[in-house]
Amino acid sequence: MVQGLLNFALSVFPFLRQTENTTIPNTNGTTNELNDAYSPPFYPSPWLDGSGDWAEAYTKAQAFVSQLTLLEKVNLTTGVGWQGEACVGNVGEIPRLGFPSLCMQDSPLGIRFADYVSAFPSGGTIAAAWDRAEWYRRGYQMGSEHRDKGVDVQLGPVVGPLGRNPKGGRNWEGFSPDPVLSGIAVAETVRGIQDAGVIACTKHYIMNEQEHFRSPGNFEDKGFVDAISSNLDDKTLHELYLWPFADAVRAGTGSIMCSYNKINNSQGCQNSYLQNYILKGELGFQGFIMSDWDAQHSGVASTFAGLDMTMPGDTDFDSGASFWGTNLTISVLNGTLPQWRLDDAATRIMAAYYYVGRDKVAKPTNFNSWALDTYGFQHFFAKEGYGLINQHVDVRDGHTQAIRLSAARSTVLLKNEGGVLPLSGKEKFTAVFGDDSTENPYGPNGCPDHGCDNGTLAMGWGSGTAFYPFLVTPLEAIKSEVLANGGVIQSVVDNWAYNQIDALAKQASVSLVFVNADSGEGYITVDGNMGDRNNLTFWQDGDKLIRNVSASCNNTVLVIHSVGPVIIEEYKNNPNITAIVWAGLPGEQSGNSIADVLYGRVNPGGKTPFTWGAQESDYGPDLIYEPTNNSSSPQDNFNEGVFIDYRIFDKKNITPTYEFGFGLSYTTFEYSDLNIQKIPAGPYTPTAGQTKAAPVLGNFSTDASEYQWPANLTYVDKYIYPYLNSTDLREASQDPEYGIEVELPAGAQDGSPQSRIPAGGAPGGNPQLWDVLFHVTATITNTGEVPGEEVVQLYVNLGPNEPKVVLRNFERLSVAPGQSATFNADVTRRDVSSWDTASQNWVITEDKKTVFVGGSSRSLPLTGELDLSGYATGGN
Ligand SMILES: *[C@@H]1O[C@H](CO)[C@@H](O)[C@H](O)[C@H]1NC(C)=O
Ligand SMILES: *[C@@H]1O[C@H](CO)[C@@H](O)[C@H](O)[C@H]1NC(C)=O
Ligand SMILES: *[C@@H]1O[C@H](CO)[C@@H](O)[C@H](O)[C@H]1NC(C)=O
Ligand SMILES: *[C@@H]1O[C@H](CO)[C@@H](O)[C@H](O)[C@H]1NC(C)=O
Ligand SMILES: *[C@@H]1O[C@H](CO)[C@@H](O)[C@H](O)[C@H]1NC(C)=O
Ligand SMILES: *[C@@H]1O[C@H](CO)[C@@H](O)[C@H](O)[C@H]1NC(C)=O
Ligand SMILES: *[C@@H]1O[C@H](CO)[C@@H](O)[C@H](O)[C@H]1NC(C)=O
Ligand SMILES: *[C@@H]1O[C@H](CO)[C@@H](O)[C@H](O)[C@H]1NC(C)=O
Ligand SMILES: *[C@@H]1O[C@H](CO)[C@@H](O)[C@H](O)[C@H]1NC(C)=O
Ligand SMILES: *[C@@H]1O[C@H](CO)[C@@H](O)[C@H](O)[C@H]1NC(C)=O
Repeated sequence: MVQGLLNFALSVFPFLRQTENTTIPNTNGTTNELNDAYSPPFYPSPWLDGSGDWAEAYTKAQAFVSQLTLLEKVNLTTGVGWQGEACVGNVGEIPRLGFPSLCMQDSPLGIRFADYVSAFPSGGTIAAAWDRAEWYRRGYQMGSEHRDKGVDVQLGPVVGPLGRNPKGGRNWEGFSPDPVLSGIAVAETVRGIQDAGVIACTKHYIMNEQEHFRSPGNFEDKGFVDAISSNLDDKTLHELYLWPFADAVRAGTGSIMCSYNKINNSQGCQNSYLQNYILKGELGFQGFIMSDWDAQHSGVASTFAGLDMTMPGDTDFDSGASFWGTNLTISVLNGTLPQWRLDDAATRIMAAYYYVGRDKVAKPTNFNSWALDTYGFQHFFAKEGYGLINQHVDVRDGHTQAIRLSAARSTVLLKNEGGVLPLSGKEKFTAVFGDDSTENPYGPNGCPDHGCDNGTLAMGWGSGTAFYPFLVTPLEAIKSEVLANGGVIQSVVDNWAYNQIDALAKQASVSLVFVNADSGEGYITVDGNMGDRNNLTFWQDGDKLIRNVSASCNNTVLVIHSVGPVIIEEYKNNPNITAIVWAGLPGEQSGNSIADVLYGRVNPGGKTPFTWGAQESDYGPDLIYEPTNNSSSPQDNFNEGVFIDYRIFDKKNITPTYEFGFGLSYTTFEYSDLNIQKIPAGPYTPTAGQTKAAPVLGNFSTDASEYQWPANLTYVDKYIYPYLNSTDLREASQDPEYGIEVELPAGAQDGSPQSRIPAGGAPGGNPQLWDVLFHVTATITNTGEVPGEEVVQLYVNLGPNEPKVVLRNFERLSVAPGQSATFNADVTRRDVSSWDTASQNWVITEDKKTVFVGGSSRSLPLTGELDLSGYATGGN
């Protein structure tokens, strides 16, 4: 989220390029068609209508906003400035109504900058559980902790980046490069967080697929480089990157964060096409769009383009100026911004508030992000308001037991030759290797925002992190295991102590080697990695460590803590490496979770949520690490279309080391009896008709003297307020470009009824997309000796030009040895539809559709045809 270290040029962007085309590029990912990609204008910004299950929240929000003054509405939408209040972001309060400042807090895996909180497994790790209940529970527990610290909005979960390239620095914050796995995970997480009474902020919308050049800025060695533009076509947008956002919206996410980057050359937080047309229009999003931290680059332009809340409120951190605040008040007073747009922004914020029930559970913030001391400054940057800032409330509520189990159930067993795992605990001599098995010498929270790779890796770095209450290391857990069994255990945790490593490996009956690969957010550079990974190999000379140990021990077990795939083809093929286990980024119980798996208390059932390629180039286009010849936006053309991760491996017939969806168990499973039942569901009806006119809630006086600084208000240094310092609007705005004649985008001010969007109609899109067309069942038999869990996966092929298979559903089943269980999955209209750029809607093509069921994307023993007669409408 925050971009603290770089010094940004304040750049004001013009209104979006006007163009005659009405849709974003209509290509299928063929070379160079995306050059000069544009994002067409779409106005006005759709206003809230209370559709789906938002009616009650909408009514309450309207009632609340109706009593607000213009200044109070502005307060609700504008952050008070960086480090102005207790949370990483706060908006202004409404003292007249006793309504406190709303608090936004990181992160997607717990609470950043607070004590007595839990550090949960990362999104990319919990994804490997393929378990809806696990995702919901984690969401609920994270939400509960935020609620009890007095947080209104948890800044998570993440489905952008999706993970186009595995080197993307923040991929681990999200779930998986597969949109369906991500979509189901994000929906469950949103429900969990919001059922706990906290607003979820699903982010980053959209295409924030790398850290390099995500924001405009000055780079020491490169000068000014404008924000990168992710250029993509309409089909890829709908079928891949937007897909999980649609699920989040359907699940009711109260907030969505717009991203730093440009999309088709229009800045994310003022991209009217993506915010107005796609998110609020087609997806019927009922909550509010919040900017990423300093991702807002214009005032009126972003307001018309659908932004509802600016974070942290100032143009640049602690500039004392804002595109909104005073400027937003002025833009209403000078007649540029119609009142309905501000009313809509305020209503959206309050609707989210009521939707999750914050009116019933909200409590004052009882911690302060900027200091752990009990007493300190309420306004950290200004050094004002000294008093009690931290009450050190322990909000963990026993979540650590679930965290331990979640991480174990997310662990993926990749290799297990001759059943070397599980270990009995009675091995004569256990050796543990690797700096990744032990504690960071600086302490678990010893590096700011976890921006280092010292000791065992249990989360990446950046704003998407939490403070550890403790971190159980693998060495601690394994040692207590072995000691309880009366065995011998020794370790070498210096990866460069070659002689000692060799000597110990030679003695061991089993060697457990811990290695890692880290990444994070671009404002911190670790070991030369500016957020994004520079390569897909291990850190801390991990590859050398693995080779050293396995050269001397024929029973080497490799345990990987990583943000994503690492190149391990060599280890898969090395006979001395008897087992490989991926533990991801497991959070605070890391050691106990891995010990539970290694010693068989938990039979691994996780499946890899991404593909393990044998070489970097297998994944397709690389990230952009160097700017293109001048200061303009690097152009990142997503020419591969929907073909990322397993889809590109399948398309190019590349054999991966371990395919998407793969994962072993201590038992084995057999698949049989595929049954496909067709469920009658009527034809698909495009949404039609008109919206109502934009509601206007209350009125305001145009007399500038009514908005002046209250004589009795103490100004907090660099704080952002809604007030004017002069009755002359130009003077009050302090904007040298104030009043310069700009042509407003056509329709931007228009509050009259608008046409509904055919693919829209309710939160998430046209509700008929979720009609169930088929019910699929299969029998899964445990053919081994121990109870186990199998993630049964359902894929479809939608036609000859489409990916070979795409995941559509799954279920994690628990099966006793010798017993069978039934896999049950629905296939919806959405699951068998393709995006049709011409009709701007989903269609079921005439192409033959096949369904596959199995244990991974490349192990699909059961197949059948989907009879779509009566549904298919479009040619291909
Ligand atoms: C706006 O918020 C600030 C503090 O966050 C507060 O001091 C001020 O009174 C608020 N203004 C109005 C009009 O509510
Ligand atoms: C209003 O916005 C402009 C940039 O558009 C900025 O330069 C100015 O400082 C802002 N005014 C206030 C009072 O924040
Ligand atoms: C810890 O990490 C920092 C930053 O990467 C590095 O400079 C330092 O050498 C590491 N220290 C130890 C003891 O591992
Ligand atoms: C890959 O990056 C890591 C982390 O910076 C580094 O330790 C390692 O040496 C690099 N690998 C290669 C092959 O350069
Ligand atoms: C496997 O380990 C044995 C020692 O147990 C060693 O002699 C042999 O060279 C190793 N093989 C490989 C491929 O490293
Ligand atoms: C490893 O080597 C030892 C003797 O050095 C032998 O007894 C054992 O069977 C070997 N284990 C494997 C898994 O090959
Ligand atoms: C400041 O003055 C206004 C009236 O001008 C009054 O409504 C408000 O309560 C006063 N606020 C404080 C903090 O005294
Ligand atoms: C507005 O006036 C207040 C009160 O006099 C002053 O402290 C503040 O610096 C002024 N703000 C700006 C943006 O000039
Ligand atoms: C209205 O106010 C906004 C915000 O200060 C400013 O950017 C814009 O130029 C003003 N427009 C006119 C026509 O004065
Ligand atoms: C993409 O479009 C081109 C022509 O526009 C066509 O020749 C090609 O077959 C299409 N490819 C796919 C994968 O649909």
